[in-house]
Amino acid sequence: MAQLNGKIHEVIVTTLSSEGRPHSAPMGISEVNGYFIIKPFKPSATYDNLKQHRQCTINYTDDVRVFAGALTGRRDWTTLPCQQIEGHYLSDALAHAELEIVAFDDSDSRAVFKAAVICEVNHSPFRGFNRAQSAVIEAAVLVSRLTMLPAEKIQQEIAYLTIAIEKTAGPRELEAWGWLRAKIKDAGIELTDND
Ligand SMILES: Cc1cc2nc3c(=O)[nH]c(=O)nc-3n(C[C@H](O)[C@H](O)[C@H](O)COP(=O)(O)O)c2cc1C
Repeated sequence: MAQLNGKIHEVIVTTLSSEGRPHSAPMGISEVNGYFIIKPFKPSATYDNLKQHRQCTINYTDDVRVFAGALTGRRDWTTLPCQQIEGHYLSDALAHAELEIVAFDDSDSRAVFKAAVICEVNHSPFRGFNRAQSAVIEAAVLVSRLTMLPAEKIQQEIAYLTIAIEKTAGPRELEAWGWLRAKIKDAGIELTDND
């Protein structure tokens, strides 16, 4: 039975392609009556994969490079085979859940997949919040909306998030932050060296 304390939790959803290749993407999931709700945009690989293979994995990871990597063309993370479904999970995940899709609504621009938990596996303990990890997640969300947001808004938010990066980032957070900054600059949005 699924349970989330917050309204939406940012996780990595790993699906299988029609060739059986694992595909990992950041998704904001929610929970309704013990079921997880996954809402991929159309078109997306996650949408295609879930439609043709109705099993997937939710990975709970504090390696924010997986989030930043999905938006900057880096998706080569090591995975391992699942225990009870045909699928894979991220080998670095703190925990993962193996899911079976039990219902599907395709009527909106974001499809709604309702998933039951087949099993949950813990790998490593949660070791507390890190502000730089949250900052990377926020910056990744900004990057996923680069074409929709005004440049000024992106510059302001990056400047604010930089405070948490400078105070609390470790090597993984700094690497992810660098990828996201480069992507923003590649889109023609100027960032100063301090942010
Ligand atoms: C924190 C975070 C949450 C996201 N949540 C969603 C989501 O719920 N649905 C979605 O379609 N894309 C979401 N995205 C964007 C996708 O991860 C991104 O577009 C990705 O490339 C998915 O496309 P794919 O399935 O083709 O890989 C999110 C991105 C981030 C950084």
